[in-house]
Amino acid sequence: MAPDSSISKLVVIITFLSSIIAPVTTDNAVVTASAASSAIQLEREALLNSGWWNSSRARANYTSDHCKWMGITCNSAGSIVEINSEEMENNGNAAELSQFNFTCFPNLVTFRIWGTRFLSGRIPSEIGALSKLEELDLSYNLLTGTIPSAIGSLRNLVVLGLSFNILNGAIPLEIGNLKNPHSLILRGNKLDGLIPSSIGNLTKLTILDLSLNKLSGRLPREVGNLKNLFSLYLDNNNLTGPIPSTLYHLNQLRVLYLAYNNLVGPLPREVGNMKNLKTLLLNRNNLTGPIPSTIGYLNSLEKLDLSHNRLNGPIPPTIGNLTNLTSLDLSSNQLSGLLPREVGNLRNLDSLSLDTNNLIGPIPSTIGYLTNLTSLNLGYNQLNSSIPLQLMNCSQLLNLVLTHNSLSGSIPSEIGNLIFLRQLDLSRNFINGTIPSQLGKIPNISAVDLSKNNLSGVIPKSVLRVPGLKWSENNLEVENPVISENAPPHQAQHFKGNKEQHQKIVTRLVTIVLPMFAFLALILGILFVHRRRDEKISPNTREMTKGADEFSIWSYDGRITFEEMIQATEDFHIKYCIGTGGYGSVYRAQLSSGRVVALKKLHRSETEELAFLESFQTEARLLSQIRHRNIVKLYGFCLHNKCMFLIYEYMERGSLFCVLRNDVEAVELDWTKRVNIVKSMAHALSYLHYDCKPPIVHRDICSNNILLNSNLEAFVADFGLARLLHPDSSNRTLVVGTYGYIAPELAYTMAVTEKCDVYSFGVVALEVLMGSHPTDPTSLSSSCDRKIRLIDVLDQRLPPPVDRKVVQDIILVSIVAFACLQSKPKSRPTMKCISQEFLSGKSPLGKPDVQEISISELIDQGKFLIDQRDC
Ligand SMILES: *[C@@H]1O[C@H](CO)[C@@H](O)[C@H](O)[C@H]1NC(C)=O
Ligand SMILES: *[C@@H]1O[C@H](CO)[C@@H](O)[C@H](O)[C@H]1NC(C)=O
Ligand SMILES: *[C@@H]1O[C@H](CO)[C@@H](O)[C@H](O)[C@H]1NC(C)=O
Ligand SMILES: *[C@@H]1O[C@H](CO)[C@@H](O)[C@H](O)[C@H]1NC(C)=O
Ligand SMILES: *[C@@H]1O[C@H](CO)[C@@H](O)[C@H](O)[C@H]1NC(C)=O
Ligand SMILES: *[C@@H]1O[C@H](CO)[C@@H](O)[C@H](O)[C@H]1NC(C)=O
Ligand SMILES: *[C@@H]1O[C@H](CO)[C@@H](O)[C@H](O)[C@H]1NC(C)=O
Ligand SMILES: *[C@@H]1O[C@H](CO)[C@@H](O)[C@H](O)[C@H]1NC(C)=O
Ligand SMILES: *[C@@H]1O[C@H](CO)[C@@H](O)[C@H](O)[C@H]1NC(C)=O
Ligand SMILES: *[C@@H]1O[C@H](CO)[C@@H](O)[C@H](O)[C@H]1NC(C)=O
Repeated sequence: MAPDSSISKLVVIITFLSSIIAPVTTDNAVVTASAASSAIQLEREALLNSGWWNSSRARANYTSDHCKWMGITCNSAGSIVEINSEEMENNGNAAELSQFNFTCFPNLVTFRIWGTRFLSGRIPSEIGALSKLEELDLSYNLLTGTIPSAIGSLRNLVVLGLSFNILNGAIPLEIGNLKNPHSLILRGNKLDGLIPSSIGNLTKLTILDLSLNKLSGRLPREVGNLKNLFSLYLDNNNLTGPIPSTLYHLNQLRVLYLAYNNLVGPLPREVGNMKNLKTLLLNRNNLTGPIPSTIGYLNSLEKLDLSHNRLNGPIPPTIGNLTNLTSLDLSSNQLSGLLPREVGNLRNLDSLSLDTNNLIGPIPSTIGYLTNLTSLNLGYNQLNSSIPLQLMNCSQLLNLVLTHNSLSGSIPSEIGNLIFLRQLDLSRNFINGTIPSQLGKIPNISAVDLSKNNLSGVIPKSVLRVPGLKWSENNLEVENPVISENAPPHQAQHFKGNKEQHQKIVTRLVTIVLPMFAFLALILGILFVHRRRDEKISPNTREMTKGADEFSIWSYDGRITFEEMIQATEDFHIKYCIGTGGYGSVYRAQLSSGRVVALKKLHRSETEELAFLESFQTEARLLSQIRHRNIVKLYGFCLHNKCMFLIYEYMERGSLFCVLRNDVEAVELDWTKRVNIVKSMAHALSYLHYDCKPPIVHRDICSNNILLNSNLEAFVADFGLARLLHPDSSNRTLVVGTYGYIAPELAYTMAVTEKCDVYSFGVVALEVLMGSHPTDPTSLSSSCDRKIRLIDVLDQRLPPPVDRKVVQDIILVSIVAFACLQSKPKSRPTMKCISQEFLSGKSPLGKPDVQEISISELIDQGKFLIDQRDC
C-alpha cells in the first residue's frame, strides 16, 4: 500500500508549487518569510510535543533538522508533507494519538504510521484539520473509540486505512462526504451497527474492506453504486438479509468476499453478470435454493467457495466452463443429483471439495483429467459404483477422501500411482476385494482409513507399516509376527490400547536376522559375565538376572522378570501390540502386580557391536534417571538373547497423532487441553535441553511421539533413543526425524541442534491448534498466505474459543509456533524461553480477539517476542 514513489514525488512537487502559489493568491497577500518560518517552527514543536520522536533513533541521533527525523518528509519550503513510518518504536507503552497537534500541519499529504502497535487512544476530531491529507493509514495500531465524523471533512482523502485497531461503534454516516477515496479499509476492528447507505456516494472506490467486524443488518442497496469496485470484502461480520440484487451489477469486481455472515436467500441468475470475478467466497452463510447455471459465465473465476450454506438442487454442468478454477468448494450444502462429468474440464483445479451433500451416482471417469488436483474430498455423499481407475491419473493428490459413500468394487492396485498421497480415507463404503500392497509403497503415506468396508484377505506387510492405518470392521487378517521386526527407524508410532480401532503391527521376517540372534546371544553372554564382575550399580536401580542370557535394570519399585513380561504379552502376541514405529513395536503388558506398562521391543538391522551394547546400557541408565512430569518415564530395559526392550510408563490414550485424527476424540481434546498439551511439551523439551547433563536433543518430535494419559495430559516419549541406538551419531543425523516435522536446515547440514527440536515443536504446536498436520508449515508462514486469519486455520471440529483466557493462550501458542518455524535456526526462540513465556502467563497482544487476528500479525508478534524477551 506504500504509494508509488513517483506518485509521492509528484505529490511533493504539487505541494511545493501550491506552497509557492498560495501566498500570492490568498487574502493575506504579503506573507513574510518570518511567518513561514514560524509555521515551520510550530510543526517542529508539535512533533516534539507529541513525544513520538523522543528516542535517538526516531530523531536521527538528535539532529536539529526535523525533516530528517524518522518517517518525515518536508517540501522544499521545509513544511512537512509526509509522515510515513513502519518503524516507530513502542517502548512498552503506546503513544497517544491525541498527543499529535493536528492543527499544526496544513501541508500534510500522507499520514501513515503502520504496523507496529505504536499508537493508542481515540482518534480526535481535530484530525479533520488535515485538509490536504490524501492518505491516512493507521493500520495495526491500538486505537480505540469510534471513528469521528470529522473524517468526512478530509475532502482530499484517497486512502483511508484503519484496519486492525480496536475501533468500535458505527461507521459514521459522514464517510459518504468523502469525494475521492479509492480505498477504504477498516478490516479487523469491532465496528458494529449498519453499513451506512451513504457509502454508495464513494463511487471512485476500488477497494472496500469492512471484514472482521461486527457489522449487522442488511447490506445496503447503494453498494451497487460503487461501479469501480475491484475488491469487496465484507466477510466475518453479522450481516443478515439477502444479498442486494444491485451488487450483481458490479461487473468490475475481481474479488467478492461475503463469507461468514448470516446472509439468506437464493443466488439469482444475475450472479453471472460479474464476469470479471476471480474470487467468489460466499461460504458460511445461510443461502438457499439452487446454484444458477449462469455461474458458468464467470469464466475468470479461480476460487469459488459456496460451502456451508443450504444450497440445494444439482451442481449445474455449466460449472465445467470455469476452466480457470484452482479451488472449488461446494461442501456442506444439500446439493443432490449426479456429479457432472463436466468437472473434468476444470483442469487447473488444485482442490475440489464436494463433501457433505446428497450427491448420487458414480464418480465420473472424467475426474481423471484433473491432473493438478492435490486434494479431493467427496466424502459424506451417496456416491456409488466403484472407484474409477482414471482417478489414479490424478498423480499429484495429497489427500483423497471418499468416506461415507456407497462405493463398491475394489481398491485399484494403480493406487500406487498416487506417489504423493499422504491421506487416504475410504472408510464407510462397501469396498471389497483385497488391499493392494502398492498402497503401502507410497513413500509419505501417513494416514489410511479403510475401516467399515468389505475388504478381505491378508493385510500386505507394506500396508501394515503405514502409520495411522485403520482397518476395523472388515474381514481382514494379519499375519502373526514371528521372531523379529525390522521396520526402518522412520516413523515412531504409538497406538491406543483399543484393540479394535488402532491395531497395527509390523511384521518383517528378515532371514538375515535369524543367525544374528545366535550371534547376539553369544555376545550378550560374554558381555554379561564380563559386566557382572565390575559393574557398579547406581543406588536407585536394581539389577537382576535370570540366567546367563539376560541382563536388565529396573528402577521401578518392584521386580519384574523377563518371564513375567513374556507371560504378560503371551510371547509378544500381536493382540497386545498397541503400535509400531521407528525403533520397534510397542506392547501393553499387565504385570502380575496389576500394574500396566508399555514394552518397546527394539530391533536393529546392523550387525551388533560390543561397543553398542555397552553404550546402550550407559544411555539407558541415564535415560531412566530422567524424571519430569511431562516426560514418559523409562522404568528400565532388558537385554535378552531373544530381544531387547525398554519398559515405559503406560499412556492410556495413546498418541496425539491418533487422538487428533479421530473426530470423537479430537472434540474431547478441547482448547484448554490443547493449550496445555503444547505447554507441557515446551516444559519437557526445555528440561531435556537445559536441565539434563549432558543435554538431550530429542531429534524426533512429532505428534506420534507425544503420548496422552487418561486425563489427556501430554508426555514426551522416545527421547534419547536416537543416541541410544546410534551412539556414534551424537549430533549427526541418521535417518532421524519424521517427515513433515524435520527442520529445513537438515536438508543441507548434518548438524542436529536443539533448534531442530524447536522447529518440530512448532509444527506439532500448529498441528494441535489446526487439528491436522500443517501440510507446509514454512509456506503458511511465508508471505503469500499471510492474510489468512488464525480463526480460519483453527480446528473446525471444535467450537471457536470464546473464553478470554483461552483465546489469549491460543494466540500465544500460535505466536510461539510461528516463531519456531523461522527457517533460520538462529531466529527461532529457545525452548527455555518458550517455557518461561508460557509460565509467565503474559499476553503479548493487546487485542485478544481470535476472530480478528491474522497470521501476519502473529508472525510479527513472534519476532517482537524474540527481540523483547532476548530469546
Ligand atoms: C518527550 O520529550 C519532551 C521534551 O523533549 C518531554 O516534554 C516529553 O515528556 C517527552 N515525552 C515522552 C513520552 O517521553
Ligand atoms: C546514529 O548514530 C549511530 C552511531 O553513531 C549510527 O550507527 C546510526 O546510523 C546513526 N543513525 C542515524 C539515523 O543517523
Ligand atoms: C495546537 O497548536 C495550536 C497552534 O500552535 C495551539 O493553539 C493549540 O493550543 C495546540 N493544541 C494542543 C492541544 O496542544
Ligand atoms: C452522500 O450520501 C448522503 C446519504 O446518502 C447524502 O445525504 C449526501 O448528499 C451524499 N453526498 C454527496 C456529496 O453525494
Ligand atoms: C448477529 O445478529 C443476530 C441478530 O441479528 C444476533 O442475535 C447475534 O447475537 C449477532 N451475533 C453476533 C456475533 O454479534
Ligand atoms: C438459517 O435460516 C433458517 C430459516 O430460514 C433458520 O432457521 C436458521 O437458524 C438459519 N441458520 C443460521 C445458521 O443462521
Ligand atoms: C459455456 O461456455 C460456452 C463456450 O465456451 C459458451 O458458449 C456458453 O455460453 C457458456 N455457458 C455458460 C452457461 O456459461
Ligand atoms: C484464464 O487464465 C489464463 C492464464 O492465467 C488467462 O490467460 C485467461 O485470460 C483466463 N481466462 C479468463 C476467462 O479469464
Ligand atoms: C498444472 O500445474 C502446473 C504447474 O503448477 C501448471 O504449469 C499447469 O498450467 C497447471 N495446469 C494444467 C492443466 O496442467
Ligand atoms: C465385490 O463386489 C462385487 C459386487 O459389488 C462383486 O461382483 C465382486 O465379485 C466382489 N468381489 C470380491 C472379490 O468379492
